[in-house]
Amino acid sequence: MKALILIAGGSTLVYAILAVLMGVLPGIELSKTPPGPGVESLTPLAAKGRAVYVANGCSYCHTQQVRPLPEDRVFGRPTAAGDLVYQTPELLGSERNGPDLSNIGNRQPSKVWQYMHLYDPRSVQPLSIMPDFSFLFRVVAEAPPGVTPVALPPAYAPKHGVVIPTQKAVALVAYLLSLKQPPIPGYVPPAVPMPSAVPSTPAAGGAPAAAPAFDATEGAQLFSQNCAVCHQANGEGITGAFPPLKGNAAVLNDDPTQQLHVILEGLSNTNVGGTVYPGAMPPFKTVLSDSQIANIVDHERTSWGNNAKLVTPAEVATERAKLKH
Ligand code: HEC
Ligand code: HEC
Repeated sequence: MKALILIAGGSTLVYAILAVLMGVLPGIELSKTPPGPGVESLTPLAAKGRAVYVANGCSYCHTQQVRPLPEDRVFGRPTAAGDLVYQTPELLGSERNGPDLSNIGNRQPSKVWQYMHLYDPRSVQPLSIMPDFSFLFRVVAEAPPGVTPVALPPAYAPKHGVVIPTQKAVALVAYLLSLKQPPIPGYVPPAVPMPSAVPSTPAAGGAPAAAPAFDATEGAQLFSQNCAVCHQANGEGITGAFPPLKGNAAVLNDDPTQQLHVILEGLSNTNVGGTVYPGAMPPFKTVLSDSQIANIVDHERTSWGNNAKLVTPAEVATERAKLKH
């Protein structure tokens, strides 16, 4: 009997000590973490959106923790404890069926896109397996004043009336757009070589290798990573939401100034091919290098039947230099 009490009592004590050492103390320590530089608390609307996020099980498929792994680089910088100070309990998640959302407010800042995607993910990502959240929207005969209907291509739009977001959808999108990783001063991400960044071998005879020409593989890959969510892989855009790049005047122009300017600085409220699109195009000047932009531009200039003069990284650099003053 005595031995039994000793074993039961002893093991309970060991477990209790382990729980304090491995769970409680680190928890107390972590709760003292100060917010990271630039990390802001949620607005009341975004906080409501966070509740909608939780209630709809977005965490069943999405994480909010970027790991320090090469395959997570597309999602942002590795998550730091100071990022999550205003978001407790943290929605770290563990299932990565969809992309990590820690930095979605920077990666996909377009409200127009977010609404379309929530209403029906297939309207912007034809092969998406994400369920639709159309129950967070309402179909009405006419949008009330001050409310912008969701831009939907005809195949996804209701037969009659227009789709408007409910308060829940408005709050959820405010929350998604608030998910932005502020840069950590002094943090330089380790370089990940692009598959195409093979060191150029000098031409036979020791002559210096020619300037790297258009890299079609990299152009196609970068276009699909950065542009296809809106302009679509086939370059045809989405009627009423994102303009086609197939046959686009700026893309076909021998003078690439406008095309380069749009990629670097973004664009909004501009008539493109007869339509003023409801959303904005985000700027890419801090995301893409000169040679990456040149490859994307040349991809656009040589795809979908487009056949326009190619541009060089030097031309991108010239256009970029014009911005900084
Ligand atoms: C059953 C799994 C699943 C659930 C639940 C889910 N998603 Fe997704 N989500 C995905 C997948 C897969 C993708 C990638 C394909 C796409 O973009 O549609 C995705 C993409 C996204 C994207 C675009 C990410 C990017 O990097 O472009 C956002 C934003 C998003 N989801 C938000 C949400 C929100 C908000 C909820 C909850 C209301 C939610 N998701 C629920 C699977 C899911
Ligand atoms: C979030 C959606 C979105 C993404 C991502 C996006 N664009 Fe756009 N793009 C737009 C919208 C919207 C417009 C039209 C803006 C307007 O009418 O004011 C546009 C316009 C353009 C135009 C036409 C400019 C003109 O003056 O005719 C080009 C070219 C273009 N985008 C290229 C790109 C490239 C290249 C990428 C990727 C590096 C890209 N876009 C990523 C939404 C997007």
